[in-house]
Amino acid sequence: MSNLLISKVPVKYTQPIGDTYRFFRELLNIPLDYLFDSLKYAWFSSTFKATRSQRALQALIIRLYHGIEVGLTYENPRPGFGIKVVNRLVNYLGKYEKKYGFDTQAKIALNVLFQYYNFNKKNGIDNQPLFKKLNDLQKRIPVSLQEETRGGTLSIRKEDIEKTTNIDFESFVMSRHSIRQFASKPVDMDLIRKAVRMALRSPSACNRQQARVYVLDDPLVRDHVLTAQNGNRGWRDQPDKILLVTSNYEYYKESRERNGAYIDGSLFAMSLVWALHSVGLGSCCLNLNVTRNGVLKIKKATGIRPSEVLIMLIAVGHLPENLQVAASTRREVEEVLHVL
Ligand SMILES: Cc1cc2nc3c(=O)[nH]c(=O)nc-3n(C[C@H](O)[C@H](O)[C@H](O)COP(=O)(O)O)c2cc1C
Repeated sequence: MSNLLISKVPVKYTQPIGDTYRFFRELLNIPLDYLFDSLKYAWFSSTFKATRSQRALQALIIRLYHGIEVGLTYENPRPGFGIKVVNRLVNYLGKYEKKYGFDTQAKIALNVLFQYYNFNKKNGIDNQPLFKKLNDLQKRIPVSLQEETRGGTLSIRKEDIEKTTNIDFESFVMSRHSIRQFASKPVDMDLIRKAVRMALRSPSACNRQQARVYVLDDPLVRDHVLTAQNGNRGWRDQPDKILLVTSNYEYYKESRERNGAYIDGSLFAMSLVWALHSVGLGSCCLNLNVTRNGVLKIKKATGIRPSEVLIMLIAVGHLPENLQVAASTRREVEEVLHVL
């Protein structure tokens, strides 16, 4: 009977109204959301002023010193290579030190510059003006950072890498599933910390490491954010922890890098999911596919910076003894892999 009633609903009449509404809503929303994103990128990225904030200047310093350390890893680096980059870096480092003082990244930049100087000296170029500037900066290093020796190049052996690559990664990958039912046991923050430390090993363009993770522990904040998210209905109280992963536009510049925050942020988020799996925790990515209004709501609830970009939420908790997961059947390799 009910089937008969349903079949009598004038489908042709009701469907187009919904479709028409959606059509015009999206015709407006798509350009407005792109406009919102592009204005935000233009305003907050380092495009028009590389030194606009500490984060932007630090990103520039990382990018420049990373270029030098990469240059030093080539098989036969050309003595004197990249001197323009080196001079820019020394200049920005001086500015950074004056404005914000030395921090770990600034000290690492200085270590890289000393390695660059020593490489050139060994190869017949003793750049004394550079050496003098580096020594002047060195004198201003606070005691707390004097032990910081990282940066530059590392010598590693294939044998040492191979010792770690014979783990059964395939089984590890196959045993991860998106988890939507959790044990009621609270998650120790040390486990989250351990996972974040591992996720920090994710690659990021020029090693900017712009991703940030917020643990939404305040019940009100968590509630606001989960209400703005559309994929947690029916199980939102299950996970003990909700993590918010963000990127930041301040670390990127110019139109060509406009998607960088999303790419680097997503790689980080994926590593975090693997890392959570490795410490025995269950997790489920939760999309943050929201319009500009959703973005503003989440920013207001969490108080994160306006320059930050929402990547995703990750629901985290301990695994129950037995549970159901969606099969989420995958495509065949042949459908995905193509030789061009
Ligand atoms: C960016 C992203 C957003 C996702 N959003 C949701 C979500 O909102 N709700 C949900 O239940 N699952 C969500 N998922 C989980 C996917 O449904 C799941 O990863 C996919 O079906 C593959 O299944 P598996 O993770 O169990 O292998 C999301 C996954 C990703 C990568």
